[in-house]
Amino acid sequence: MPVLSTRTAAESETGVLRSPGRSDVLDVVGIGFGPSNLALAIALAEHNQEVPEADRVSARFYERKPAFGWHRGMLLKDTTMQVSYLKDLVSMRNPCSRFSFLSYLHARDRLVDFINHKTLFPSRREFHDYLEWSAQPFGDAVDYGREVVDVVPVEEAGEVTHFQVLTRAGGPQAEPTVQRARNVVVAGGLRPRLPDGTSLSDRVWHTSELLDRLETLPAGAARTPRSFTVVGAGQSAAETVAHLHGEFPDADIHAVFARYGYAPADDSAFVNKIFDPEAVDHFYTSPDDVKEMMFDYHRSTNYSVVDIELIDELYRRLYQEKVAGKQRLHVHNLTRLLTADAGDEHVRVGIEFLPTGRQDVLRTDYLVLATGYRPTDLNGILGSAEPILRTDDKGRVCVNRDYSVESILPGPAAIYLQGPTEHSHGIASSLLSNTAVRAGEITKALAKRLVRDIDAPRAPALTAAAPL
Ligand SMILES: Cc1cc2nc3c(=O)[nH]c(=O)nc-3n(C[C@H](O)[C@H](O)[C@H](O)COP(=O)(O)OP(=O)(O)OC[C@H]3O[C@@H](n4cnc5c(N)ncnc54)[C@H](O)[C@@H]3O)c2cc1C
Ligand SMILES: NC(=O)c1ccc[n+]([C@@H]2O[C@H](COP(=O)([O-])OP(=O)(O)OC[C@H]3O[C@@H](n4cnc5c(N)ncnc54)[C@H](OP(=O)(O)O)[C@@H]3O)[C@@H](O)[C@H]2O)c1
Repeated sequence: MPVLSTRTAAESETGVLRSPGRSDVLDVVGIGFGPSNLALAIALAEHNQEVPEADRVSARFYERKPAFGWHRGMLLKDTTMQVSYLKDLVSMRNPCSRFSFLSYLHARDRLVDFINHKTLFPSRREFHDYLEWSAQPFGDAVDYGREVVDVVPVEEAGEVTHFQVLTRAGGPQAEPTVQRARNVVVAGGLRPRLPDGTSLSDRVWHTSELLDRLETLPAGAARTPRSFTVVGAGQSAAETVAHLHGEFPDADIHAVFARYGYAPADDSAFVNKIFDPEAVDHFYTSPDDVKEMMFDYHRSTNYSVVDIELIDELYRRLYQEKVAGKQRLHVHNLTRLLTADAGDEHVRVGIEFLPTGRQDVLRTDYLVLATGYRPTDLNGILGSAEPILRTDDKGRVCVNRDYSVESILPGPAAIYLQGPTEHSHGIASSLLSNTAVRAGEITKALAKRLVRDIDAPRAPALTAAAPL
């Protein structure tokens, strides 16, 4: 890595590089280009339209996927959004934006039809199309197929003035290239959570890759799967069970989870206020014990819960199979996964019925782990910048209200987080509800910070080409 080799021994200890000059420094580099940084790109472009040229912000985004995509592996047919379309990328911040879901419907010539549909919750496939439509005008500002592998702080006169963002395309052997940036906004999303002792293989999948895996199944009736086992009781698990049960009419589907039954997601009006922008202020200013209390009270708005309509549908199918005397949907409640041994022909899934401790083995063709997600691995992305990030006594990064991370070194350069801030900003952090408002808040914070940096040469400001 040529850049890292320019460090002196002392610099390597702190992970800080001395500045080699700043002519090609961007105002913002965004890591990841999912909905969060897409909303930021729109907010920055709209900001640039409104302010004098000197105050405009330059930005570039790096996305490791080869093209825009939002949880493509779970774009199952008939699944709907779990958030109102009014909580799109912009409307809560700027209802007049041309990037609203309503503008998208208008551009697609479906506005009238959508109104007649009388729903707040479009299908996930339609929302994906909306996100793609919004991302398309920013194509020139995004490097797809390029992963950020390190962020190195650069020091000048005792201050961190900017970062060197190391990116790589084409796999681990490829040589990284460097982009300098005064600010970095990390929006790397979630990563699959696997139960201890399990690993992914041709027969053991995580829901995040469900459709990709199903597409690769060998063709031919004789090779059609005869059984699937799905572990977990959240929305992903329930959708996967319903999908596999519908798509493979001859297969047995085993649902394994520790709960007594699938529990409904609480999206009632008063509780839903936990996703309001104001709730972020309440959460942020609360002492730790109140934060924990808020989280525990309202965990069931999001985690390990299922839309009630889907619960009813699964129960209906189960009951109708009982009536018909031909059961192929099997619910193993109060049951935990013990082992998963994948062979060439099937997986041996060890399970335990918790009330009695009785252990069984399910021989299944494919095991699908619907076991949820963990937050972004900040260390894997920020690497060299991690030592300058202040952490609390629980080892969590200290995040300011404007989503910038507290640094142990002074200086104008900052790292912002979109997503891994559940501990500081509350339960909406990893969701879409607050995306538009948060992007506006970060844009304001960035613009304010950059006003102090007027000496630096400016790269061209971020703009959006006209949407399709
Ligand atoms: C199946 C599913 C459905 C969901 N539905 C809803 C819903 O209806 N409503 C809701 O509010 N929330 C929903 N969520 C929650 C979800 O987290 C948000 O919808 C949304 O994806 C958050 O956007 P993001 O941009 O922060 O993260 P992501 O959408 O995960 O995007 C992050 C991007 O960063 C990229 N990336 C990561 N690391 C790097 C790197 N080092 N270099 C370059 N690129 C990198 C990734 O490839 C990814 O494209 C759902 C989650 C799942 C799994
Ligand atoms: N249509 C949609 O919009 C849609 C679709 C899918 C997902 N989502 C969203 O995506 C997010 C994640 O949902 P999710 O269902 O993937 O995850 P989740 O809600 O976190 O649920 C994970 C499930 O896996 C179980 N689990 C976790 N670790 C386990 C282990 N080691 N062994 C066995 N079981 C384990 C959990 O058990 P416990 O029950 O004991 O907690 C839980 O039932 C949510 O925000 C959800 O709303 C949205």
